[in-house]
Amino acid sequence: MPSDVLDDVVVGAGVVGLTTALLLARGGHRVVVVTAEPVGGGSSGRSAGVVSQLHGTAYRRLQSETARKNAAAYRAMNADGFALLAELLTSTGTAHERHDAYLVASRPDGAARIDDEHLAASRAGLRLEKLQRSSELPFPHHGALVLSDQILVEPSRLLSALAIAATEAGVRIVERERVVDIRVRPHDVSVVETGQNEYAARHVVLATGTPILDRGLYALKTAAFRMVAVTGTASGPGLPIVTAIGSGGSTTVSSAGAGQVTAVGQAHAVGTGGSELHQADRVEEALRRMVPDFERTDAWSGQDYRPFNPIGFVGLLPRGGGAVSFASGFDGWGLTQGAAAGIRISRDLLGLERPAWATTIGRRFTRVRSQGVGLAADVRAASELVSGFRRLAPTDLPLLRVGQGVVHRTDDGLVATSLTGDVLRSVSAMCTRAGGVVVWNDLETSWDCPVCGSRFDVDGSVLEGGARGPLRAMPTPGAPETPARR
Ligand SMILES: Cc1cc2nc3c(=O)[nH]c(=O)nc-3n(C[C@H](O)[C@H](O)[C@H](O)COP(=O)(O)OP(=O)(O)OC[C@H]3O[C@@H](n4cnc5c(N)ncnc54)[C@H](O)[C@@H]3O)c2cc1C
Ligand code: FES
Repeated sequence: MPSDVLDDVVVGAGVVGLTTALLLARGGHRVVVVTAEPVGGGSSGRSAGVVSQLHGTAYRRLQSETARKNAAAYRAMNADGFALLAELLTSTGTAHERHDAYLVASRPDGAARIDDEHLAASRAGLRLEKLQRSSELPFPHHGALVLSDQILVEPSRLLSALAIAATEAGVRIVERERVVDIRVRPHDVSVVETGQNEYAARHVVLATGTPILDRGLYALKTAAFRMVAVTGTASGPGLPIVTAIGSGGSTTVSSAGAGQVTAVGQAHAVGTGGSELHQADRVEEALRRMVPDFERTDAWSGQDYRPFNPIGFVGLLPRGGGAVSFASGFDGWGLTQGAAAGIRISRDLLGLERPAWATTIGRRFTRVRSQGVGLAADVRAASELVSGFRRLAPTDLPLLRVGQGVVHRTDDGLVATSLTGDVLRSVSAMCTRAGGVVVWNDLETSWDCPVCGSRFDVDGSVLEGGARGPLRAMPTPGAPETPARR
């Protein structure tokens, strides 16, 4: 056990981890942040940097699945998260832009959803204006709402500003150390273990997207999903922030002043929906309907978590004996919600009064329809588990193109083989935790688990999610003398 006992170890350096650490340190706590990647390596750094309180059709969902006071609390929570980030960006002189945010129906059948969102948001106290003249936007649509004066920021700048402010407040940030175990000791000192070090603290905050200590089985109470982003340039006048509801779900487009346009869409459960490279093409198609002269320069995808309850989970981890807090389930809009999670967790740990919204949300009741989302995720997970095996007949390894991966059956069991660069690598296709069979992600060149949403690098090492260990290295078919690299 390390002799130096901290007040808090925060695991993860996304918006939740850095905001929590910053506020804890400002409140006088000694804090270390431990993060597997460099700051910004998670979803926050891969986001579009839209700090907005207009979250697609979130209020429509809140209205149908939870009480009105919870929707009002969601609004107040996001207002606090927005205010914290706005103040940070201004006080640190971090470059950012103010834009109006629009919600737009791309098809005639989306018009009713726009009206529903207008009503539901106004009942929760969020004043959205309905667009009276369709010519206010430079592309055809079937109704739009607008919320003025939201924020667009380069995500790496936002995270650097948070990291610098946290460091100045006394936080130590340890990058590139993956937490592999936590020895939780309620009312005592818990120990956080990485491959390289141990950190002792009275409290642990899991700001890891999904909690890596799965005591509340949050991997099954949330559906892990991915969104695909494309970015590039366009010559015309930029658009405001636009979330367009179309036939393939919603696409959010944002244009920075320098002619940089980014679009995010094609939300899909991890490991489903086919090639992410093809999904990037579909995001680009949706974007081109709004910005016809768009020229793509890059594409990527990232992960977030959809809770069975329409509002994410923030607070103490069940069966953590009061020693572990966590936050998860932001449903694609985690910048304001993540900052608010930091406010909530830090105030609890500093013994300060909770914001009223946190008390309301903490006591919320989930309607049956909403619980079905969790159930659906469980059922899907279970069926993937079984069909993952059934899909596969024993086969020879097919010829792979660079950037391709395939799951095949050998005498050793199910094997996942990929070709990246000029390196052929094989790992076990089946994890040892819950039996998920991984699926190739051709955009991120990773192995993704449709059961629990964990992701693995081509060498089997964990990239994200709750998986506790790497996928086992396997002999590469056709090259038995060359063991797969670890
Ligand atoms: C493509 C895309 C675009 C998006 N755009 C927007 C947007 O414009 N606006 C918006 O509001 N939301 C957006 N979102 C959603 C938003 O990015 C997320 O909701 C939010 O970033 C979640 O923050 P987080 O701090 O919980 O997680 P993350 O930012 O993912 O941080 C998790 C951290 O935990 C670390 N970690 C994980 N496991 C371990 C471990 N075992 N040991 C140590 N460290 C670990 C990771 O390295 C990382 O630092 C987008 C999401 C995607 C996928
Ligand atoms: S069930 Fe997902 S990695 Fe095991």
